[in-house]
Amino acid sequence: MNPFQSVKEEVRRAADIVDLIGQYVKLRKVGRNHVGLCPFHAEKAPSFTVSPERQTFHCFGCKKGGDIFAFWMEYHGATFPEALRDLAERYNVSIPETFSSDEERKRAAQREALFKINESAALYFEKSLMHSGMGKSARDYLAGRSITPETMAEFRLGYAPDQWEGLTAALRKRGVELEKAELAGLIIRRDTGGYYDRFRGRIVFPIFDLRNRVVGFGGRVLDDSVPKYLNTPETPIFRKGETLYGLHASHKAIRKKQRAVMVEGYMDCLALRNHGLEEVVATLGTALTERHIRKLKGYASEVVVVFDSDEAGIGAMLKSLPLFLNEGVSARAAILPDGHDPDSFVNTEGLDSFLELLAHAPLMFDLYLEQRLRPGDSDPEVKIRVLREIIPILSQLRGDSQRLMYGHRIAERMGVRDEVVWSELRAFRKKSSTAAVGRHLKERVETASGGKRFDDLHLLNLLVHYPEVAPKLMDIEWQMLVSDPSVVEIFGAFFKEYSRRGPFSPQDLLDALAGEGARQLYREVLMEEPHCLPAEVDTALLEIGQKALQKKISASIKRARERGDIEGLNQLLKLKAQGTTTIS
Ligand code: CTP
Ligand code: MN
Repeated sequence: MNPFQSVKEEVRRAADIVDLIGQYVKLRKVGRNHVGLCPFHAEKAPSFTVSPERQTFHCFGCKKGGDIFAFWMEYHGATFPEALRDLAERYNVSIPETFSSDEERKRAAQREALFKINESAALYFEKSLMHSGMGKSARDYLAGRSITPETMAEFRLGYAPDQWEGLTAALRKRGVELEKAELAGLIIRRDTGGYYDRFRGRIVFPIFDLRNRVVGFGGRVLDDSVPKYLNTPETPIFRKGETLYGLHASHKAIRKKQRAVMVEGYMDCLALRNHGLEEVVATLGTALTERHIRKLKGYASEVVVVFDSDEAGIGAMLKSLPLFLNEGVSARAAILPDGHDPDSFVNTEGLDSFLELLAHAPLMFDLYLEQRLRPGDSDPEVKIRVLREIIPILSQLRGDSQRLMYGHRIAERMGVRDEVVWSELRAFRKKSSTAAVGRHLKERVETASGGKRFDDLHLLNLLVHYPEVAPKLMDIEWQMLVSDPSVVEIFGAFFKEYSRRGPFSPQDLLDALAGEGARQLYREVLMEEPHCLPAEVDTALLEIGQKALQKKISASIKRARERGDIEGLNQLLKLKAQGTTTIS
């Protein structure tokens, strides 16, 4: 075993997958497994499954799955060496310095370098803010905006002095490779050679990932000049469309309260925290994406989005409703009074007023209807247009009771009979019967009842859940029974492993499987309930043996026929009719 492998094993022994994943995805125990909403694709009903016995996860929707390392890599966008190192660190397993490939080593090293440079820059900005002379105007500005020293320290706010080469010089002095600092988005190359600082004369907001590493920065001017904010461009460690400012500090509170409050700006987020509201995150001015919501839904089932009352705010709300519905996250919309943003509101009206606003925030869906249907608007054209627009959304809703409720509400508000809504919904569903929702289930049902593949899966289920049947299955000529290439691959690998060393852990086999199809299937079967109870295993084996025998007879019959061996053929046909007994 290479040293790498042994670290992997040791981490696996120390970690519990339900525990680990449970910190990122809300899991519920169902039978032997734990299920939750998949963090890797849009879904409203949980198909993300974690097995404590197998220490694996698998999503029946998007087919992603694997062990704790696979989860970590997918969730954090990390390479394998990074995942190994992170998890080893987490579970106190010491690790030798090795990497699986040159490419991975390079990527990991590059990301590592960017984190390090960002950390250096964050320290430089923090120091500049605290600098008695240079940082004074910035400190005054923050104080003027009621940011407390505690919040400043917790979020590591800083100041980029109004100099062209402040950070550039500081990084050079520390021996940082400036090309890397450029890649980190901190400095910009001059046409004439050399570099200059991106952030100058700005309050700096470091942006953190869930492991408290600095992934990027935002910077605000101290006056009215433009652009008001500057941000780190996209880099290998900074992806704007999925980054939520403040989540590193708020995820515990979000989980505890089971709700997240979503605002738009750095200052909104900080102002609310200043006043004691902890479960708050900000989208950094970019449009809300489904990746933002996926990041949150592991922590809370409800998000209250705070919108401005202006047209842009309402527009943003209308756009985000389908995203929330798609992710199965309940969304409410708090609308601020004219001319306010969360920062100005909480600073003038206080936290209690803000909490009041949150408490009365209507469901986004209701607000949507309200915005679309002006009271007293009885124009049938308008009604039809709104209905057409709303039916796809209704169709996406999780659960029939929810749909019933909303359908009724739509009808009521529009002044039409419920039946009108339902018939529109049926017509829409017919049109889009290929909707991704539930498609995989349909496929599974169809293929599983297709006979041949059912045998394959049945046999595989038996082997996986009762590995002790392996020697008997090997005797039975299982090759007669399975035809699915993935199943054949799994059986082949399983028996090879089994003959080599006897019983082994299911995880080891995953590593031994070369085909992704085979690995997927194996994970699915690991998650399945056993098809038969322990007491039924012998009967199942008997049945399987007979089925294999029948197949063998059929094959012999075919050969006898081809040879023109009438006597042999007759014997075989008799044997086949008897169904059981043995063949010589
Ligand atoms: N934003 C940005 N670039 C800009 C303007 C805004 O990245 N040129 C992002 C910032 O993350 C900002 C958010 O959009 O926090 C909201 O913008 P805005 O409402 O204009 O600013 P406020 O957050 O209200 O900032 P402040 O209160 O400091 O004026
Ligand atoms: Mn503001």
